[in-house]
Amino acid sequence: MARKPLIAGNWKMNETIGEAVVLAQEISNEMEPDWLDDVDVAVCPPFTDLKPVYTVFEFDKLGVGVGAQNVYWEPSGAYTGEISVPMIREIGCSYCIVGHSERRQYFGETNEDVNKKVCALLSDRTQPIDPIVCVGESLAVREEGSYIGFVDDQVRAAFAGVDAEAAKSAVVAYEPVWAIGTGRTATPEQAQEVCGAIRETLAVLFGQVAAASIRVLYGGSMNEGNAELLLAQPDIDGGLIGGASLKARSFVQIVKAAL
Ligand code: PGA
Repeated sequence: MARKPLIAGNWKMNETIGEAVVLAQEISNEMEPDWLDDVDVAVCPPFTDLKPVYTVFEFDKLGVGVGAQNVYWEPSGAYTGEISVPMIREIGCSYCIVGHSERRQYFGETNEDVNKKVCALLSDRTQPIDPIVCVGESLAVREEGSYIGFVDDQVRAAFAGVDAEAAKSAVVAYEPVWAIGTGRTATPEQAQEVCGAIRETLAVLFGQVAAASIRVLYGGSMNEGNAELLLAQPDIDGGLIGGASLKARSFVQIVKAAL
């Protein structure tokens, strides 16, 4: 079954509001209106930039979406410093990255936290926010050879208690930690091997039909030079782009490679 590719930019902790508006406008200017028929495009800026960036894309009417990089699972309350699903929904987010390896590594996010966030995002579909669930192994796990099992465990944990119908709205991003921000991309074969295994896990959890409709992205030093070969793999349905998403031209070249 044909899955519409998704190219999502993860801006991480970059861009002040002024810088973000300029970058969003540059991205918008580089895009052709009919591309969005064939590829979904979104950027995930810091919380402070979400509304201004959303407003730029809304004005330009191209259909570029906006996503958050994180969210908390409780809807409101005494959780100083956190941001809830209703808050990012009202801003206009259509995606939310969950369980990025930097959050797992630097902020102690566990598989259980990731699961609670996925469930919070998928529980209210009135104005859907699709989770982009990040999984991926460290270099040590890769070299030891147990990376398929490691990623399988992360996927199972992230989706615990989620039913097949809800899971169809989720996106999984395979981001090997050793490839993030290092310039050392996984080869298309390495990326396909794990993305294919992720789809098999999804099929075990949710059935073939649901698994065939869930988008699996690759992320980790994807750029305009390597995107085409990665995106040509049968189980890679798009990319989660860090560094290269901060340059409008590079990001849009990756979007083009997904057409
Ligand atoms: P990178 O980051 O493209 O800079 O490697 C990807 C990510 O962390 O999502």
